[in-house]
Amino acid sequence: MNRNSLIIVISAIIIVSAGIIAYDLYFLGGSPSQITSRVVVSTVALPTPSLTGQMSVETAIQNRRSVRTYSNQSLSLNDVSQLLWAAQGITDTTRNYRAAPSGGHVFPLEVYLVAGKGGVTGLDEGVYHYSPANNQLEKLLSGDLRSKLSEIADGQPWVSQAPVNIVITGVYQRTIDKYGNNNVSVRFVQQESGHAGENIYLEATARGLATVALGSYDDNKVKNLLKLPSNEYTLYIFPVGFPQS
Ligand SMILES: Cc1cc2nc3c(=O)[nH]c(=O)nc-3n(C[C@H](O)[C@H](O)[C@H](O)COP(=O)(O)O)c2cc1C
Repeated sequence: MNRNSLIIVISAIIIVSAGIIAYDLYFLGGSPSQITSRVVVSTVALPTPSLTGQMSVETAIQNRRSVRTYSNQSLSLNDVSQLLWAAQGITDTTRNYRAAPSGGHVFPLEVYLVAGKGGVTGLDEGVYHYSPANNQLEKLLSGDLRSKLSEIADGQPWVSQAPVNIVITGVYQRTIDKYGNNNVSVRFVQQESGHAGENIYLEATARGLATVALGSYDDNKVKNLLKLPSNEYTLYIFPVGFPQS
């Protein structure tokens, strides 16, 4: 192969590779605005979510209530897996579609677990990011942050009493990339968090757990406490535990 042919072949390889990377970034769920900056300390595999339960969806809807007092009984890793799966688990592996509907299937939501000391059997206290693709927890921070989270949630005591809190955030830019920087994109992300939140309520109810949707908190302080990536905004906090009888 002469020098010119070699240059042509190498150029072709570079162009095709750049095309594949660009395609992956923009069409397979990773445009630059979607790339987040989390430093993962370690990972914890979650049990495979079960698709059968003890309670019908109708009974769960009927029984769902916001509950703000919890016993100190720990959750199991199965409980955590089910709750996170209900919020954002992948339910269609062909297209990577999730448990909650998503406007334009751009999936702007991220889910975190703030686990208290002894809150989950076999899981260290800390802050974890839920990875739906791998069905695993990614440990981000160590320590029991529930009291601090309670303080910045207007002092609501159920945040520090619950064994765990689930925090839903939104990367608005993912939706903006598709629908523009307008109120429709903002509305889409917020509507989607409601779907994920209701799934958490119903899954909790079906498992004999209880929760309450919290919208009262200081957005920036939650973001700083959990060291959220700069392009993520807190949408909901759900304390979860076994109801106090
Ligand atoms: C957007 C939103 C924000 C809420 N924020 C709080 C909150 O910060 N603290 C709280 O204790 N309950 C909060 N709630 C729960 C409501 O108080 C509760 O849903 C309402 O009292 C009705 O009771 P139910 O959920 O048992 O039907 C919120 C609910 C929604 C939908």
